[in-house]
This record gives sequence, C-alpha cells and structure tokens, in this order.
Amino acid sequence: MKKYIAILGFGVVGSGCAEVLAQSKKLISDRLGFEIEPKYILDLRDFPDSPYADRIVHDYDIILSDPEVELVAEMMGGSHPALEFSLAAMKAKKSVVTSNKEVVATHGLELLECARENGVKYMFEASVGGGIPIIHTIDTSLVQNDITEIDGILNGTTNYILTRMNSAGVAFDDALSEAREKGYAEADPSADIDGIDACRKIAILAALAFGKLIEPEKIHTEGIRNLDSTDVKNAASAGYAIKLIGRTFSDNGRICAYVCPMLVPASDPLCTVNDVFNGIKVNGDAVGEVMLYGRGAGKMPTASAVVADIVNILSGSGVDYSWERAKDSDILGFEAVSSRHYIRVTGECGCLSGFEKIADGAYITSEMSEADAALLEKRLEESGVRVEARLRVLG
Ligand code: HSE
Repeated sequence: MKKYIAILGFGVVGSGCAEVLAQSKKLISDRLGFEIEPKYILDLRDFPDSPYADRIVHDYDIILSDPEVELVAEMMGGSHPALEFSLAAMKAKKSVVTSNKEVVATHGLELLECARENGVKYMFEASVGGGIPIIHTIDTSLVQNDITEIDGILNGTTNYILTRMNSAGVAFDDALSEAREKGYAEADPSADIDGIDACRKIAILAALAFGKLIEPEKIHTEGIRNLDSTDVKNAASAGYAIKLIGRTFSDNGRICAYVCPMLVPASDPLCTVNDVFNGIKVNGDAVGEVMLYGRGAGKMPTASAVVADIVNILSGSGVDYSWERAKDSDILGFEAVSSRHYIRVTGECGCLSGFEKIADGAYITSEMSEADAALLEKRLEESGVRVEARLRVLG
C-alpha cells in the first residue's frame, strides 16, 4: 500500500526529505507495511534535472484538492506563506509536519488549534536540534517527568563558527561563509548569529516542557556578533568554552527563557559539543539529567527528523499538543536570573579584587543577579574603569 504526501519547498531540507524517503522506502515499508510517496513538490522554481521534475507543481490548489495527499511537509522557512499554507492544508484535513521553527515559535498556538479543530496533526520535530529527536523524547520517553530545566546549544551555525574560531583560528566571516556553504545557516544568517534562531528554539522547548508558549520578543536574546576573540581565548585559558546557550527553567510556577553566549566549564558535557553539533540537556524530576547530542543542522539530519514526524503521523502515532499563550505574569524576567559573570575591563578598580582573576583584566565574579551585575558594571564605569565585556557563566 502507498500513502501520499506533498513537499512544500524543495530547498536544502525539502530535497533532503525526498532523498531520505527514497533511501528508507524499503525500511519503512518492511517496518510499517506501507510505502510513503511524495506525490507533489511545491516550489516557485523548476528542477528539470531532478528525478522529481515531474512532481514539481506551482499551484498549491492541486495539492489541497487531491484527497490522496494525507500529509503536507512544509519546509519553506519563514512565517509567510508557510503559516497560510499550513492552515489551508489542515482545513483540507491533511496533517502537517514542519522544520520551520519561525512559524512554530510565532504562530504555534494558531496552528495547533487549527490541527485540533480539523482532527489532524501538526508536528515539528525538525524545528529544534536538527536531527536530534528531542521533541519526541520530551513527548514520550520523558512524559512522566516534571521537567525543571533545559539548557542547550541549539544553533549549529554559531557553534560551527565558535569552534572554527577557537580551534583553528578562522576569522568570524570566513567561518560563517563555511557554514553557509555547508547548508547550515538560515537564508538570512543574522538569524543565526544574533541568536534569533536559538530564541525560537528555546521558545518551542519551553512550551513543550511547561505548556506555555512565550512570544520570542519576550525572550532575552543575545548573539555572538560582538564576541571578541580575546574573551574566547581568556575563557579557554581558564578551562571554559564560550557557547551560545538557550536556557529555560521554571521557578515557583514562572517560566524563564533566554539566549546568550556563556562560558561553559570543561566539566559540563555541553563544553565538548563542537562544530555543527547541538547538545540539549533536560532535567526531569525522576530521571535527573539527560543529554541528547547530534547534528543540529544540515540537509540529511534535518530531513531525518522531518521524515520521523511523517512516519509517526501516517502510522497513527502522532501527538496532539495543547499549549497556552504565556501571560506576562507567567514569565520570570531575565533581570532575576542569577549566575557568575565573566567581566573584562581596562583599568584598575578595588571592587574586582574579591573575584577570581583568570587573565589580564578578566575576572569571574561570585554568583549575582543580572540586576546586581548591571550595578557592578555601573560602579566600575563610574570609577573610570571601562567594561569591555560581560558574559555569564553556565552552572
Ligand atoms: N540555521 C540553523 C542552525 C539550521 O544553524 O542551527 C537548523 O535549525
């Protein structure tokens, strides 16, 4: 028996999805008793040299009106028209899977409600962690756990850039070009380097863990654009690696989520996550700490996660989500977050003498809130000391 799907967007991930389906055809058929066939591929472009050339369509109505198409795999990226196309598919009683973190993080509530109303599924394994099955793990294997915290390296491009800068001395722009050539970066790579992509992913993870979707604009987000190589070297000399970390935790019923570059100590397994790899640590009340590791971006790993959702839905084991919108009173602001801070200054000031000095002008403070760290920074500036960098330390 054959089950038919349609692919929306034949770019890096969309073409990877067709490839994974082709190479796993027999495996899926042996394991599940049916074959999965992409009947249509929607794209603005033609692909005359592709083995899928005869399935390319430019008119979405052909897909919507074909009752044989049970599921639509949206890999277009961006919010529009991905949102409208996904809603239209579900209203036509077709389930939707996506790799599109932007549309899930910004319009997830509307999409999930539409899925519920139409008795279909909306699933998004590939939206976080590339090929890592983090969403399925939280939904199924960890369902019996009250999740207290998730910390992760959630963006492959920035992790690749940081690794290349740190271990091979490659300049930032060259490392970014490499990541683009490898198909890791977003269409607009500022979404990667400014932390926006990781912010969307931590919003999705927080919603999975705590049932409430925080609007990405309400999540404190810093990227790696202004990271100075002096700080990368200082951190390395003291046994830390600087990583772009997405973190979410619950505190007395309130949810905190943020993204920023952090000093990760060598004792933390996230410290050894390099290149395009992502690592995601989940803390559950019964299981304790679990970490998942794998390729966080790239054609085939991301396509593998898309196909996992397709298989789950077509075999009848899809998941229904019921998230709520996080109200302001549900959110713990970033200023309340407490951590140790790495501070690099130019000039001398007694108020740093009590802290650990790790390099010339570079200190690691004791634990303090963001508000107190900002006050310390102000005191330093007032006493004529220039604060060149302030970063948080994980753990
Ligand atoms: N640009 C993203 C990354 C792709 O580098 O992680 C995978 O979501």
